[in-house]
Amino acid sequence: MSKSLFRTKKIESILAEGSDGSHGGVGLKRVLTMKDLTFFGIAAILGAGSFSSLGGAVFHGGPGVVILFVITAIACAFTAFCYSEFASRIPVAGSAYTYAYASFGELFAWIIGWALIMEYSIGNIYVAYSWSDYFTSFLQKINVHIPQYLCTSYMEVKDSLAAGSSNAEIRDAWENAPMIGGLKIIFDLPALVINLLITLLVYRGIKESRNFSNLMVILKMIVVGLVIIVGGYLVFSKGLTPNWMPANEQGLKSFMPNGFSGVMAAVSGVFFAYIGFDAVSVLAEESKNPQRDLPRGMILSLGICTIVYILLSLVLSGAVNYRNFEGVGDPLAFIFEKQNLNVAWMQFFVAITAVVAMTSVMLVFQMGQPRIWMSMSRDGLMPPVFQKIHAKYKTPSFATIATGLVVGIPILFTDKTFVLDFTSIATLFAFVLVCGGVLLIPKKEKQPGKFHLPYINGQFIFPLIVFAAMLLAKSLSSNYFSQMLNFDFTANADYVSGKLSYMDVATPNISLIVFWIIAVLLSILSYFKKYSLIPLMGLITCLYLLTGMTKSNWAWFLGWLAIGLVIYLLYGYKKSKLSV
Ligand code: ALA
Repeated sequence: MSKSLFRTKKIESILAEGSDGSHGGVGLKRVLTMKDLTFFGIAAILGAGSFSSLGGAVFHGGPGVVILFVITAIACAFTAFCYSEFASRIPVAGSAYTYAYASFGELFAWIIGWALIMEYSIGNIYVAYSWSDYFTSFLQKINVHIPQYLCTSYMEVKDSLAAGSSNAEIRDAWENAPMIGGLKIIFDLPALVINLLITLLVYRGIKESRNFSNLMVILKMIVVGLVIIVGGYLVFSKGLTPNWMPANEQGLKSFMPNGFSGVMAAVSGVFFAYIGFDAVSVLAEESKNPQRDLPRGMILSLGICTIVYILLSLVLSGAVNYRNFEGVGDPLAFIFEKQNLNVAWMQFFVAITAVVAMTSVMLVFQMGQPRIWMSMSRDGLMPPVFQKIHAKYKTPSFATIATGLVVGIPILFTDKTFVLDFTSIATLFAFVLVCGGVLLIPKKEKQPGKFHLPYINGQFIFPLIVFAAMLLAKSLSSNYFSQMLNFDFTANADYVSGKLSYMDVATPNISLIVFWIIAVLLSILSYFKKYSLIPLMGLITCLYLLTGMTKSNWAWFLGWLAIGLVIYLLYGYKKSKLSV
């Protein structure tokens, strides 16, 4: 057998393993329909992103954040098509990990599996924190008070105090926390409890989880719809539409008061809001007709959520001046507060539903992670215990408990911002590999009833699009390229105003430079190889979103990948089924 790090798995053998119940002779139950899969998609997508991080996004980008939602939706739609192509060819659990195994080979498959831990498990930590924010504020509304030191993360308190925060809740947590051996006991108890409950539910089984999840999706769609209708009506009836052209700090009125860089600063939060449509693909082995229904479920759920996000960000930025969203963790309830639109019942209603919405997000991701590990374990890249299926509940029992621990333990020592950035960069990275993977797999014959990615020849169109994008960038900002290479940093407004120092600005924008180099290389390749346009567009749009990540995000992410690589070389490479 091959000793190469890039040994690939044959699609036929992946399919054979998925269908023969090779994990202990007991297969997963095939019970999910297209409606269930779409509901799962919405359950995974609509959550902490819309209920929590949307506030920060509007604060950074102003009403113009809508543009970022559209760009991100386009990137995700192209990616969803690529996921669908893979899901229709390889309808087994494992998602992007399995797809990479068939296209790029084992090393990349492992890297994706490793990056997906960020999306599924670390992402769930952010959702658990947000869940706790809404839950505790809901309890406060009904006069139940949990001590601050039991509903805040230690890191958040420590970092906020170090940054000179005067926030009363943060001070309260620090000053009243009990001490054990010189250590202040501060942790987010509700976040831990919800993680425990979700782990138990997922352990119990897919059918129970499905019914619970569908109900929650209906509830949250009703409330999001109400926010849009009631909020939208009040924006117009109270004459608040000028908020869509607010003045920035210099008094200039604009749809993008902080410019396009302000809009791009919101990329982690906005992208996080879309994560989830891809989670549908891990349910391949539990769906009745995966080749037809997985692609439809993914694209439908993505489309519905895109419309919701565009409307929500317009309502939010219309209802309240964008600057007032600083530090607001519950923006959908905030716009209905007394000083804003002043609708008390909506505040209450939104708070309850946010708790429901986030519960359903956690449920989907907590189900996804064990299924990816199960696939990795089948391939020998993870210990065999990860593919153990519970005899009665038919769920990957050990992997489910392991997921609960991977989400639960870091709740004790991370904070929201850190996990949000980490999740977004790793997921985007996985999307890039999925789109790239579709370019590499051989063409297939069209089969009735199965999803088929339409082939549009990118030979001329793609280079033209890249060229047009360059012209557009240059026409929107004449010194775009010189600023990127940093020949012209003295024109940087933040440098001139003293906000950024010489050291901050006197470095070239590496990620943008790499982006444009890859764009040009891809144009040349697509000219010669006649690549398919849809995966090319998915690849390039996801790469563009990655340019919005900060240097420290990259440093953490690359460190994480390095650890993964060491584990692979020490364990997976030797134990892989392809190595025997
Ligand atoms: N998109 C999911 C959320 O916003 C992860 O919670």
